[in-house]
Amino acid sequence: MNLRTTDFAFMEQAAQQDADDALGHYREQFNLPEGLIYLDGNSLGPLPKSVPPAMHRLLNDEWGDQLIGGWNQSDWIGLPERLGARIAHVLGAQPHEVIACDSISVNLIKLIALALQAAAPRTKVLMEEGQFPTDGYVAAGLARLMGETRMTLHTVPRSALSEALDDETAVIVLSHVHYVSSEKFDLKEWTSRAHDQGALVIWDLAHSAGVMPLELGSAGVDFATGCTYKFLCGGPGGPSFVYAADRLLNQFSQPLWGWMGHQDPFAFAHDYEPAEGARQFLTGTPSILAMTAAYASLALFLDLDLNAVQSKSRALTGRLIEGVAERGLDLKLATPRAPADRGSHVSFRHPSAYAIVQAMIEHGVIGDFRAPDILRFGIHPLVNGYQDIARCLTILQEVLEQAQYKAPRFSERQRVT
Ligand SMILES: Cc1ncc(COP(=O)(O)O)c(C=O)c1O
Repeated sequence: MNLRTTDFAFMEQAAQQDADDALGHYREQFNLPEGLIYLDGNSLGPLPKSVPPAMHRLLNDEWGDQLIGGWNQSDWIGLPERLGARIAHVLGAQPHEVIACDSISVNLIKLIALALQAAAPRTKVLMEEGQFPTDGYVAAGLARLMGETRMTLHTVPRSALSEALDDETAVIVLSHVHYVSSEKFDLKEWTSRAHDQGALVIWDLAHSAGVMPLELGSAGVDFATGCTYKFLCGGPGGPSFVYAADRLLNQFSQPLWGWMGHQDPFAFAHDYEPAEGARQFLTGTPSILAMTAAYASLALFLDLDLNAVQSKSRALTGRLIEGVAERGLDLKLATPRAPADRGSHVSFRHPSAYAIVQAMIEHGVIGDFRAPDILRFGIHPLVNGYQDIARCLTILQEVLEQAQYKAPRFSERQRVT
């Protein structure tokens, strides 16, 4: 990387800002390769240093020594709830309202089907066009299974959502922060709008859990799901979670009946009786390996001031947006400029977005690409600092102005982008 004079001043200022950062010490709690600028915590959070020892304990002391006894002695059986309680803290929910299980895709099936029972006889499920594909896929698959008399799926552009949310709507399913644009819904306002129409709301919190205060309880949210593998740093394939408001927990049951959601799995009863509370959202055997990693990571979030995290996220995303504009880089901003309207990633459009991302990776700056033309940079306020943004901007400028991305090797597509 060749630094120009203006870059030196910029870097010096960034170094001072990092030194003054009240959250700066969190970076020490993560294992990150030396010199790497990791701007992909919105896809896969980095590895907290607390995770390897926790996994070591699980493998050696628990699985290795206790074997099957680990389910009782190490309370593996209670881990989905214990992890749920830690996640609840991040969500502004009560500990018993959250449980860790499955993936967002599977949990959305449970929640939409349950919400339809709660909102009967209404059948209309409202979603936004262009939200993360899995949300739309599972809703469409469920609609096909249930048939028109029990579920009708309405997918409309964001601009038409207000009008489409009417007194026939059973439930509206929204991604709090859009995976491409980073546009953020006002969670409280849209929850109230749904309630004003007598509808329920399900939030997909994939891109917001861990980087902003959520206050699901005081916002009156009915249901939510999200993942631990992004900003919560629970590891690749880390478990998802389900939140259901206390008032709705025991009234209706989710449809994926499995033995772990039974009120007494070890009675091996013939008939299904859902467990009390959030435990009914379990279906099969929880992945103790994955949950142990996420449980260790979530300890980092227990004393965290999520307002401070959000302020830092807004400052760093803002710095990136301004930096691209100041340098006149040939990129089209795809993220809201107003800090309150965006989450913790910034996206730009460019016809060669994939190649640019690959060229940046070769320089040690990890962002990602989303088809067809998006470069996406995720800011994790516990890990990233002002110097990361400054260096990212310098390299971005170099890659674009020297057309480095045009080298053929940067256009070879890998399976995961
Ligand atoms: C908004 C959103 N929802 C859902 C998912 C995927 O959910 P899962 O793989 O846990 O089913 C993602 C993945 O990035 C996402 O961004």
